[in-house]
Amino acid sequence: MKPIIGGNWKMNKTESEAVELAKGIVEQAKGIDYADIVICPNFTCLSKVKEIVSGTNISLGAQNMHHEDSGAFTGETSSSMLKDVGCEYVILGHSERRHVFGEDDGLINKKVKKALSEGFNVIFCVGEKLEQREAEKTSEVLDSQVEKGLNEVQKGQLENLVIAYEPVWAIGTGKTATPEQAQEAHAHIRKKLSDLYGDESASEIRIQYGGSMKPENANELLSQKDVNGGLIGGASLKPDSFIGIVKACE
Ligand code: PGA
Repeated sequence: MKPIIGGNWKMNKTESEAVELAKGIVEQAKGIDYADIVICPNFTCLSKVKEIVSGTNISLGAQNMHHEDSGAFTGETSSSMLKDVGCEYVILGHSERRHVFGEDDGLINKKVKKALSEGFNVIFCVGEKLEQREAEKTSEVLDSQVEKGLNEVQKGQLENLVIAYEPVWAIGTGKTATPEQAQEAHAHIRKKLSDLYGDESASEIRIQYGGSMKPENANELLSQKDVNGGLIGGASLKPDSFIGIVKACE
């Protein structure tokens, strides 16, 4: 299974900074064919960054999307707008969307269904909070997020689905899950996917780890059986560290 590394730039970089970062990544990623590479700048930078990555081995993704086609949804962005600027991927259900902006499983499910039906590759994020892990609720939380987030998603749509396991306590904190913790959660998610879609389909879905991944810890995380890539925040903001993680896939 080809690993997939995504860069989630979050609310960082102005247009000129984003262009510079994208150029650095394109340069350092030349010739890499052993991993899929996606970068997700903020909305205002998408079209400029597209000009830089067009025709390269880097794909463009957005960090969120609304599920309606158009209308009175102030501050939102539709699937056709994202297609128009050349996005092939979209991150949905990120923990910051869930916990800072109050998106619930039902809303995330609408977005996931819409994005898949429009042909996007979806990076669907799940993950437990610290208090949930401490209360030994991790498995329950992951089961529920996967089940509700993928409600009514059809087997035939799974080839465009990537799941990102991002323990909330590890995001932007410098605290990384141990390789064993990551593997355990990934295996659990895959088991849930097997229950929903059968073993064969489940075995083909890539599950990324996210949460303080960096070049120094990428290798041991990525060498776990069920870890098929990474979703990178902080370390995706510099070409060296981002491509350093990509190279750990080789
Ligand atoms: P981080 O963020 O790498 O900065 O922890 C990961 C993410 O939120 O996708």
